[in-house]
Amino acid sequence: MRMTVDSTLGARPADPGAPPLAPGAVPMLGHAGSLLRDPLGFLTALREGGDVVRLRLGPRTAYAVCDPSLVAALLRSPDFAVGGPLWDTMGVLLGKGVATSNGALHRRQRRAVQPAFRMDRIHDYAAVMEDEARRTADRWTDGETVDLGAEVFRTATRVVARSLLRVDSIDERADRLAAALHTVFEGLYRRMILSFGPLYRLPLPANRRFEHALADLHRMVDEIIAERRAATASGVATDDLLAALLDDRDENGEPVDEQEVHDQVVSLVVAGAENVAKTLTWVFQLLAEHPEHEKRLSEEVESVTGGRRPVAFGDLGELAYMRNLITESMRIRPAVWILTRLATVDTTLGGYRIPAGTDILYSPLAMQRDPRAFTDHLSFDPDRWLPERAADVTPAAHAPFSVGNRKCPGDHFSMAEMAVILGTVVQKWRLVATEETDSTARIGITLQPRSARLQVRAR
Ligand code: HEM
Repeated sequence: MRMTVDSTLGARPADPGAPPLAPGAVPMLGHAGSLLRDPLGFLTALREGGDVVRLRLGPRTAYAVCDPSLVAALLRSPDFAVGGPLWDTMGVLLGKGVATSNGALHRRQRRAVQPAFRMDRIHDYAAVMEDEARRTADRWTDGETVDLGAEVFRTATRVVARSLLRVDSIDERADRLAAALHTVFEGLYRRMILSFGPLYRLPLPANRRFEHALADLHRMVDEIIAERRAATASGVATDDLLAALLDDRDENGEPVDEQEVHDQVVSLVVAGAENVAKTLTWVFQLLAEHPEHEKRLSEEVESVTGGRRPVAFGDLGELAYMRNLITESMRIRPAVWILTRLATVDTTLGGYRIPAGTDILYSPLAMQRDPRAFTDHLSFDPDRWLPERAADVTPAAHAPFSVGNRKCPGDHFSMAEMAVILGTVVQKWRLVATEETDSTARIGITLQPRSARLQVRAR
């Protein structure tokens, strides 16, 4: 078996050993109980045990990487592939699309999707983002309490479908997609934490709901693809991401099969809707908690747009405070809180031996709240991202879109979309916490507030 040594990571022992066992393992379960009970607290405390620590999750061993520069090295090393508990579980939903494939298949799939995310293409999507932002803000009435989580999920689904897939008849499907994804993500989280296959084949109501939602999601994607094929066959030419996926060829120059097109579409819709929606929900929640920041934001938007609605893509370059606010929100309340990898060969990381087949995990949330990397690490402080304060920040500790060859292709797309929606909402509404609002993180595959039910008050 190939043995590589990562030369980027400083001095290491001549004979690298296994990383230390994280504190708190109990017989049989190891660390699984602590991880189940309080995943965020548990993962955050791991840094006390070292830069890389060993976890025992029942019969399985996994390594947790706690140091930001080692995480960056992990993500850039060819010795680790997308895999491990998160991605193995997500494969149930995503099949073999760009987010879950590896090696040559991943490189080809990534080449097929990447052009759709170039800056000039994002410019083309601006009209959809602006239209959806205005529709969202115009749906509400003064004094109404709205579920911001559900609202922005719907909006994000519509933006992905209308911009990347040019699906026009999305009204009913956006709600169906959002409902199906909600159920599927809940079920997937359970399957990630407790990976006991037979349990999920039992005819229990939760399993039936999961299967039904998963089937509905796949059915909708099949419908979208079939409609496009029919339109193309009748002579309608469309130049978008879906067209690129349908035209993609495999390594033999043959058209890629139907399943691959399907998996690619699922991967993009899921990644695009889920991450944007959860991130934006946290931004709105934070604004309700911090009226002083909401006021500053609305003043900036007003001074840049002069009251013109909706906020336009062309305004974004001037909305510097908004950008810092979104960045800070992603730091302190990230949607993506855990990511996993699989060691594909015997290798080393941070001076420790990592055998092939080891599951590796790390937590963006733990890194982004590390007091060694951020001054006043638990404060919501958008100004920490001002250029003159950049020295306060350890760059490797904050990579909400990841780094390396799996870096999110949707980074610029999402930042533009979130800014247009956020700006357009605050032009019209103040968001006020209600008795139902609950900022405690609800833990799933991604994080979201337990209840983002906020009252909207006209400005
Ligand atoms: C705020 C919004 C978003 C966040 C925070 C986010 C975050 C991430 C992160 C952290 C990864 C890397 C995962 C890993 O390293 O294992 C990723 C990958 C990915 N994201 Fe995003 N994402 C967002 C929005 C989007 C959007 C809008 C799209 C597309 C419409 C998208 C599509 C993807 C895809 C396809 C991948 C897999 C890339 C690959 O493996 O080559 N994401 N995203």
